Amino acid sequence: MHTDPSTVVDLDGPRGLPGLGNLLGFARGGTPHRALYRWHERYGPTYRMRLPGVTAVVTSAPAIIRTVLRDRPEMFRRGQFVSDLIDELGGYGLFSAEGEDWRRLRRVATRGLSTRYLRQSFGTILRSAGRLTDRWGAAAARGERIDVLEDLTRYTLEVAVGVTMNHDLGASGGADGDLRLPLVFETLRRRLNSPVPYWRYVRLPADRRADAAIAQARALILDRYAEARDLMAAGGEPHDYLTALAKADGDGEDPLGEDDVVGSVLTMIVAGEEPTAAAAAWALHYLATHPEAQQRVRAETAAVFGPDGAPGDFSMLARLPFAEAVVHEAIRLRPPSPFVIMQPLADTTVGDGDTRLHLERGTPIFVLQTYGSATDAARYPEPGAFRPQRWLAPNPEAESNAQPYVPFGSGPRFCPGRQLGLLEATLIVAMTCHAYTIEPDSSAGPVGERETFALLPTNLGVRLRPAPREPASAGPLPSGPAAGPSPDGNPL
Ligand code: HEM
Repeated sequence: MHTDPSTVVDLDGPRGLPGLGNLLGFARGGTPHRALYRWHERYGPTYRMRLPGVTAVVTSAPAIIRTVLRDRPEMFRRGQFVSDLIDELGGYGLFSAEGEDWRRLRRVATRGLSTRYLRQSFGTILRSAGRLTDRWGAAAARGERIDVLEDLTRYTLEVAVGVTMNHDLGASGGADGDLRLPLVFETLRRRLNSPVPYWRYVRLPADRRADAAIAQARALILDRYAEARDLMAAGGEPHDYLTALAKADGDGEDPLGEDDVVGSVLTMIVAGEEPTAAAAAWALHYLATHPEAQQRVRAETAAVFGPDGAPGDFSMLARLPFAEAVVHEAIRLRPPSPFVIMQPLADTTVGDGDTRLHLERGTPIFVLQTYGSATDAARYPEPGAFRPQRWLAPNPEAESNAQPYVPFGSGPRFCPGRQLGLLEATLIVAMTCHAYTIEPDSSAGPVGERETFALLPTNLGVRLRPAPREPASAGPLPSGPAAGPSPDGNPL
């Protein structure tokens, strides 16, 4: 029998306060995704949540997620709030663009982040990873506590700037006059958590400093882009993100304006820096508390790394499956992006069977894209345990109605930086375990979570000591039998 789809008012959901709705539930529930997960347990896979001035839908229902992530850019757009924040910081690019603009920028970005160009940028990435592990070596020799997130954020920023705009942020050692992009990130985080968009009416000193930092980055990007165009016009081969952009320009694509070029580069930096730092930081957190996993990575690197303690070339990374599994497992347990927010561009119906839901244009939908792996004990035995080896077994068939696990999103707008992000994090896991043993340091308090653009660890400190030499073999699995594997798949 055909039944009418539900509407948002039919959905159950947490009670809220007049005016504030469920806003305080977020504040009291730890990080937002923990609050959303808790309500999920109580109200089921699709529920409604009231926010000031708007009622939103929260869902982990497979059929709804499939439609919402797939039917882009025609039927669904990213939540306007975050997109606007990025645009206002001069980063109008792939993340926030919609429609035809998005299609064009996506083509260029896909090319600029392809395996071919990543291979050519490998030296840049390795240089930053080497600097970081050298700095950590000096800290280890002094017996110092290492603030993991701070250092990794610097690393991922350095890589993003190196890969996308061909500038070596680490060369000056942070001297005055170099790019001040961290100011832009601070501003983005502050604005994400600000209850009032004051910056649209008044510029505080911190906002003016961020504006100046963006103007400075803009000038440098355009400078480098002009060089890249000259190179392409002279018949050069594209070899990095900027030359890929310049090549697309000369290949009959609609020409990119200055704002497009600047926005494309800044978007890559903003979208890539924090989630990648989060993934690498959580990986080191789990390694610090699982010495047997460190040992397994070390046995792997002993067979692959050269005498300089690093992989000699890009292809060697394929021989570090356990190091990469550590990163996948850290992402599963602490997804850098536990949900994405979407909005329909017109009234529409999503889902199937009993889950059919009518949505009015503009209704915010919180897509819980990684909830599946937090609870599905059939596909992820002992879902709360850190077991990297589950990623080494072949992928099982996911049931068609299984809750999705798509930490990099899905459909036409899935993360174009997935390969780069995994590569950066895997490299750090491998190089750190190769050189050091990692021990937790909780002198600043227990490790916690906070959510800004990504789910970040707080108080994450470690101490490093020189690692023992490992025989060059993969060695036995560190704990227990291989568990059922957990695909990080694109279900669409
Ligand atoms: C572990 C690291 C990363 C994680 C977990 C992650 C996660 C995500 C997620 C969940 C999305 C939304 C996908 C969707 O809407 O379906 C996304 C989009 C995006 N990511 Fe990543 N990301 C990571 C690293 C990176 C890196 C390194 C870059 C850039 C070099 C990057 C650039 C982007 C861009 C530009 C988008 C928007 C794509 C579009 O709308 O077409 N990400 N990422």
